Amino acid sequence: MNHRDLPRVLVAGGTGYIGGGVLKILQQQGFWVRALCRAPHRLREPSHCDDIFVGQVTRPSTLKGLCQGIDVVFSSIGTRSLRRKPTFWEVDYQGNLNLLEAAKQENVKHFIFVSVVRGSEMARLSPIAEAREKVAQAVKESGMDYTIFAPTGFFNDMAEFFFAAQKRGVIRLFGEGLGRINPLSSLDFGEEVARAILASERRNTVREVGGCETFTHRQIAELAFQSLDKEPRIYCLSPWVISLGATLLRPFNYNAYALFKFFEFIASTPDVTGEVLGWRRLEDFFANLAQGMSLVSAERALCLRRSSNQPQDSTTLKAVEVSSQVSQLAKTKLRARFEQFAQLRAKYGTAKAIEMLREGLPERQKTLMNPFIALVPLAEGFRRSIPIFEQLGMEMEVVDLSNQGKDGVLEIQRVCPYRELAAEFGLSSPCQITCDLEVEAIQQAFPDLKGRILSKLARGDCVCLFKYEREVNSTASHDGK
Ligand SMILES: NC(=O)c1ccc[n+]([C@@H]2O[C@H](COP(=O)([O-])OP(=O)(O)OC[C@H]3O[C@@H](n4cnc5c(N)ncnc54)[C@H](OP(=O)(O)O)[C@@H]3O)[C@@H](O)[C@H]2O)c1
Repeated sequence: MNHRDLPRVLVAGGTGYIGGGVLKILQQQGFWVRALCRAPHRLREPSHCDDIFVGQVTRPSTLKGLCQGIDVVFSSIGTRSLRRKPTFWEVDYQGNLNLLEAAKQENVKHFIFVSVVRGSEMARLSPIAEAREKVAQAVKESGMDYTIFAPTGFFNDMAEFFFAAQKRGVIRLFGEGLGRINPLSSLDFGEEVARAILASERRNTVREVGGCETFTHRQIAELAFQSLDKEPRIYCLSPWVISLGATLLRPFNYNAYALFKFFEFIASTPDVTGEVLGWRRLEDFFANLAQGMSLVSAERALCLRRSSNQPQDSTTLKAVEVSSQVSQLAKTKLRARFEQFAQLRAKYGTAKAIEMLREGLPERQKTLMNPFIALVPLAEGFRRSIPIFEQLGMEMEVVDLSNQGKDGVLEIQRVCPYRELAAEFGLSSPCQITCDLEVEAIQQAFPDLKGRILSKLARGDCVCLFKYEREVNSTASHDGK
């Protein structure tokens, strides 16, 4: 693993759903990661960590040395338990403040915290949101760089719909179920956390985030039944029932009361959507759960890499199938480019159509690539982009060519997803409206980056080969400034 120049990250909450996804992605992208946990056996894959620190956020004396050598702290610690003790004031609030203090003492540069969507609004009704918003405020005032994520529901919350449909055959919605939400996968979220760590323009921001598709709660319930091939049985609970339930619970179990208040807010708010992140789809996630996969496997299968070495058991085959459904979405976008070209060609001729496709491409390439290649060597950045190419059905490998004061990379693509499209649209080769234009645009977007296409599948070569290089000391010059 190459950790060169990458910030060292502490993940608190890595035994949980959100933190587990973040851990996996950070490890995959080559970050050096320390996980804080009270019970290390609860880490799903300890191999995703370079270091495991055993400690309890609720007991500051156990946190000594936790943030030593750490540049960035990420925390998704929080209790979602119906048990009365510890209360979420002790965990979500005081525990996270203890962690913040430990980070400050060790001069950590950047603190990333997970709050809740519509936090300040929700804080008036829900004590959980109030606790997390107070921590978010303390993070903002800490003097460290910060990123506050306020996510809408994650796939693990949506899985509750699925399990209700599977086990009870009935889903009870709070209210009419017409509120809109765009649920998010922890892996898509992890990818955004990685970008937030690297791109300085994403610092000191509060971002409400969600996934790539928006549903009403009722549609999610229907999707759950559909994935199980069951007739939907959906009942509505009036919001006042939730409110009454919360009030009755309050004297006995404050945590349960707080959770009910959280649901009351979500049920009575027409829109809790956030900025769209990622590409993983709830339908595919439910389909995997219906195959009997665990929560974690169901999500991981959405990004499974197709490799000839993988055992082709029925689970793997299903995952590959799901993965290809995802790439279908991305392929629709590819096709749109060829359609646009065909329309322009019909009107203005080939040369002018290609000229018009160039418009705005350098700016788009800059927005796309900068978060990947700013601050890190090219090979690191290119490796991180592999999952994006996989969505297009491509198989990419990256070779670090850095040598003699140059930061260089060789990008190998074994599959060209454009060839069939080119034939369909009457082009002898797709390169002139795809990679040729892109490499040219990259040169314009990053003047100190030299790019060359060395071989092309469309010309009968065995792979497409792209070489990029720049001076080593220009690595930091793309820092979005
Ligand atoms: N999931 C969502 O849809 C969602 C949406 C928006 C915001 N959030 C916020 O994000 C937080 C985390 O969500 P999640 O889905 O990742 O929850 P999760 O799976 O329950 O994970 C919670 C994490 O917090 C740790 N934790 C819980 N109680 C603790 C305690 N007493 N002392 C120390 N650590 C403790 C857990 O460690 P152990 O394994 O040791 O228990 C685990 O690592 C939630 O509490 C919520 O406020 C969640």
